[in-house]
Amino acid sequence: MTKRRRLIAGNWKMNNTIPEGVVLAQEISNHFERDYADHLDVAVCPPFVDLKPVITVFEFDRTDIAVGAQNVHWEPKGAYTGEISVGMLKDIRCEYCIVGHSERRELFGETNEEVNLKAKALISGGIKPIVCVGESLSMRDSGAYLDYITAQVRAAFAGIDAPAAASCVVAYEPIWAIGTGRTATPEQAEEACAAIRVQLSELYDQATAESMRILYGGSMNEGNADLLLAMPNIDGGLIGGASLNAKSFIKIIEMAL
Ligand code: 13P
Repeated sequence: MTKRRRLIAGNWKMNNTIPEGVVLAQEISNHFERDYADHLDVAVCPPFVDLKPVITVFEFDRTDIAVGAQNVHWEPKGAYTGEISVGMLKDIRCEYCIVGHSERRELFGETNEEVNLKAKALISGGIKPIVCVGESLSMRDSGAYLDYITAQVRAAFAGIDAPAAASCVVAYEPIWAIGTGRTATPEQAEEACAAIRVQLSELYDQATAESMRILYGGSMNEGNADLLLAMPNIDGGLIGGASLNAKSFIKIIEMAL
């Protein structure tokens, strides 16, 4: 079985002005031991305007932390006021981009089709998509949540072949656990991540599914990360609130080593 390299990614959401983002990136960089990068991948996903300054901090320090965006448009250029293209992200050396976050789906009407278009555009441009899926509380209570999550996975990966899928990361983020302090139990998170991997093996093949990283996200912090990361199908975390504090974020990274 392939040994997957863990990924700890911070999603800053709409937090931190450029000066604040630079200070946070600098604090993370200062506490980041060089050998961490021998064992796992780390990324932070700041707001668009912070991307370049944060990348500059890590490049100046030669800190092996990747930077990702939180959204992208699938068209390469044109009259799309307010949007950012894959090429623009690539140009500043973004390595990842979150797509289909539940906040974008719920608050900005991002559809499964758009998630798929964004993932395809990112793959073509050489940026790794972090494809988010996850159910609402009412969906969980209905009992049909695994069907719902796996349908999101099928929709996101429609028309994407196995080699391209292998560059993607999937993040399971139950909506009821995001920003609520109510983390999924390790067993709940593992059940969903395992179902996602089975779905990927059906879409592709066992080797591809085994090579892909599946993250958990939703109130992950230094108090619960170790038990979540101990689960066989959880390959890292997509961390919101706790990634805004350098010490907490570093502690989670250390738990994933
Ligand atoms: P919290 O860690 O703040 O719950 O956010 C999780 C998340 O949405 C990461 O994308």
